[in-house]
Amino acid sequence: MARLFVAKLLLQLASGLAALSLCSGIAFNPCAPLTPVSRGDSFPLGLVLIPSVNASVLANLTESYGGMCNTTFQDYLIKNYKARIAIYNLRVDRLQVLRMPYADIIFSMVNATPPTLALAAFRANVTSQPIYIASGDTAQTFGAGFMVSTSLLLRIEEGTLRYLQWYDLTCNECGGATSQLCIHSSQGGIKACATPLDNCTCTTNGVANSSCSFDDERFDVCSTAINAAWLGTDRSLAVFRTGPQVQRLNAYSITSLFNAARSKFESLKNYVYTSVSESWSAVNSDTQSQYVDFWGGG
Ligand SMILES: *[C@@H]1O[C@H](CO)[C@@H](O)[C@H](O)[C@H]1NC(C)=O
Ligand SMILES: *[C@@H]1O[C@H](CO)[C@@H](O)[C@H](O)[C@H]1NC(C)=O
Ligand SMILES: *[C@@H]1O[C@H](CO)[C@@H](O)[C@H](O)[C@H]1NC(C)=O
Ligand SMILES: *[C@@H]1O[C@H](CO)[C@@H](O)[C@H](O)[C@H]1NC(C)=O
Ligand SMILES: *[C@@H]1O[C@H](CO)[C@@H](O)[C@H](O)[C@H]1NC(C)=O
Ligand SMILES: *[C@@H]1O[C@H](CO)[C@@H](O)[C@H](O)[C@H]1NC(C)=O
Repeated sequence: MARLFVAKLLLQLASGLAALSLCSGIAFNPCAPLTPVSRGDSFPLGLVLIPSVNASVLANLTESYGGMCNTTFQDYLIKNYKARIAIYNLRVDRLQVLRMPYADIIFSMVNATPPTLALAAFRANVTSQPIYIASGDTAQTFGAGFMVSTSLLLRIEEGTLRYLQWYDLTCNECGGATSQLCIHSSQGGIKACATPLDNCTCTTNGVANSSCSFDDERFDVCSTAINAAWLGTDRSLAVFRTGPQVQRLNAYSITSLFNAARSKFESLKNYVYTSVSESWSAVNSDTQSQYVDFWGGG
């Protein structure tokens, strides 16, 4: 049941992306023109998930081209990369966590070559740098695994969105920049800790468990949390409080600000993969079987 729901959701998300520009009537449209906002207003934001993309392809996401809301570029990313989109409705100057469920992450990556998943946030013609939220390819991202959390700062001047910026979490929690669990997104200038690939598979000690599903609760640790906070001023020049609050904290505290008791990394500071490519193969083979099940059965 839960799995079907995700399948439907992904379909809706995919068709939502294709139709965004035509759908000015949809309730929360991240491509709607920007109007000056005040604290507490609702604020739609889009997150695009793009498997296997080389960040240089996303050079097209410039403001003058209309960013992710350029339909030509949307169609190109859908057709060539199977890009998907998720839409969130935020409240201006609230701290919020946008959660990307593991099933949405992993089913976007089935057979992805190279096995990476990039994510960018967008609203109207403003787009963030792309970052990687999942990787089985150490050549591109240094560390491997499923990113636990990252922080997005929405920078607003006099009520109008100017920038969507990632806040570097430095990987202190998982042993620093050289940790095998530290995913580097050089184009976005950030590093963030990941859950090991081996914790996100139905295979234990080489044996696949056929009654296990990526919708099971134990895969909640494999989801990614995007912590959103606001910087700058609203349309009446009131200064936002949530962004400075995040900037004052170090990476440990940010994680605990948004997530209750994430002490999971204590045991992982010296984590070493036996073989990232073998670990990724196990994840991918589980994904293939569940994916066929999920699309074939619908
Ligand atoms: C990404 O594309 C750029 C420009 O085409 C190229 O120089 C670079 O090697 C590519 N990176 C990877 C990891 O394929
Ligand atoms: C920009 O997007 C177009 C499709 O809209 C694509 O053909 C082109 O290759 C992209 N540019 C780069 C640098 O990838
Ligand atoms: C981006 O969109 C805003 C309106 O939402 C417009 O004022 C601005 O000129 C656009 N930027 C570029 C570079 O076209
Ligand atoms: C959309 O992006 C393409 C490149 O991908 C660019 O050539 C085109 O001019 C853009 N369209 C608009 C309306 O900015
Ligand atoms: C990964 O799995 C191991 C063994 O099941 C467990 O001890 C560890 O806490 C898990 N780590 C995370 C980050 O979920
Ligand atoms: C197989 O997966 C199910 C559902 O996640 C779990 O309840 C069961 O304990 C697993 N069996 C083994 C042998 O790991």
